[in-house]
Amino acid sequence: MALLGIFARACPVFAWLLLCLLFGQIAQAADTAVSTLFVPETNTQISVNLPGDSSDDVNFYISAPDWYQYVAIGFGSDHANSLMLVAYPAADYNHITISPRFSTGNTEPIFAPEIKVTLNAGSGIKNQSIIANGTCHGCRSWATGSINARSTKQPMIFALGPNVGLSSDNPSALLRRHMGYGHFEVDMIKATGAAAGGLGVPTNITSGAVLVGDGLERDRNKAATAHGILFAIVALAVAPFDTLVAGALKRWPTLHAISSSLYFAMVIGALVPGIMISKEHILTQKFSTGHQVLGLITIVIMFGMVLWGIALMVIKKSAKKRGQEPPESSGLMSKVHTWVGRLVWLLFLINNGLGLKLSEQTMMFVLGYAVLAAGVVIFLLPVYFCIWRCTRKPKPKDEDSFELHDTIYNQNPNGYR
Ligand SMILES: *[C@@H]1O[C@H](CO)[C@@H](O)[C@H](O)[C@H]1NC(C)=O
Ligand SMILES: *[C@@H]1O[C@H](CO)[C@@H](O)[C@H](O)[C@H]1NC(C)=O
Ligand SMILES: *[C@@H]1O[C@H](CO)[C@@H](O)[C@H](O)[C@H]1NC(C)=O
Repeated sequence: MALLGIFARACPVFAWLLLCLLFGQIAQAADTAVSTLFVPETNTQISVNLPGDSSDDVNFYISAPDWYQYVAIGFGSDHANSLMLVAYPAADYNHITISPRFSTGNTEPIFAPEIKVTLNAGSGIKNQSIIANGTCHGCRSWATGSINARSTKQPMIFALGPNVGLSSDNPSALLRRHMGYGHFEVDMIKATGAAAGGLGVPTNITSGAVLVGDGLERDRNKAATAHGILFAIVALAVAPFDTLVAGALKRWPTLHAISSSLYFAMVIGALVPGIMISKEHILTQKFSTGHQVLGLITIVIMFGMVLWGIALMVIKKSAKKRGQEPPESSGLMSKVHTWVGRLVWLLFLINNGLGLKLSEQTMMFVLGYAVLAAGVVIFLLPVYFCIWRCTRKPKPKDEDSFELHDTIYNQNPNGYR
């Protein structure tokens, strides 16, 4: 710029005019061979430079507050098949890790060791920001896409991780789903040229790039929220209600049939978004975490108990039709149904806690849930006991079969006891 100023003062001489313009152009080009997007809402800077036409490299400068778990950029219009560069704090929380990644769908991207990226001076955690001043070697094309160096509208994406700490030297570190993301277009012609003084300059001014679509998108993980809320309702309200209905209101088995159908439908309704989220993350794609295994086992047991309950109902109904007592074994079958049902409830309560851990909720949140879950059980135990005492009939025979004989004795016109 100083150079320009000197020439500007010298320019009154006509003969210099052409030279002035020429130098001006060169100074301009050297100064601005970089396109920058600055996102004020997240204080994020993304600068891109393509060094001279003979190179196949891409220079980048990324800066974002370290409040975010990571900052990522991608060359391409979509998450799938873009070449992504993900930056997060290294284990020492002084340097950073840069991880080139790919994803084939709307899933957590996977580390691509074949992409070579180097970090230049100035990279690291500075001023509570993640700063990546680097070069991606031979990155203008990759297996599933390429950068169009002649385009003034090269599509790119960026994403910011949630406020969950991560400091790792591992380029395959597991990432949480982004909390904000956006699409932008970059003027690659403007970004092409020797990067001298161009790249690696912190700035808060957008130039040669434009946010497209809805700008910065706040990412609410609706599936995860639905999964969590539905299972919370199931374990804290629907299951205890069904247990109450089944235990206390034996005389109205239809009510239990309705409430348990609702219970089962809600479990399946909550399972579906759970499976959707599982497929998004590397850690959960194989369904091998404790939360997933226990959850699936619980649902299988529950399904067994639904069939068991239907069988019991049929046995009792048909015995009643024939005017007979239900067979001896149905008493034991009822007991098993009741207790396994209670176990299923307990497993749901526990597994919700495991799910909160898996989704890396804060300790306070997990403890809060544990207290609430324990509170529901402690509050309801005396209620169940009370109702059970109040509705209990004198035992005609051994304990195992009194529940079933009850109705039959009550119908006995001779009032036999
Ligand atoms: C980024 O790296 C380039 C190339 O090594 C260097 O010229 C520039 O000064 C660096 N930027 C900062 C902010 O250190
Ligand atoms: C950190 O911030 C201070 C004040 O905002 C600024 O003077 C300094 O240059 C910054 N350092 C880096 C490395 O960006
Ligand atoms: C950009 O940074 C300059 C200097 O640090 C500051 O004066 C200005 O207010 C900033 N602008 C925005 C839009 O943040």
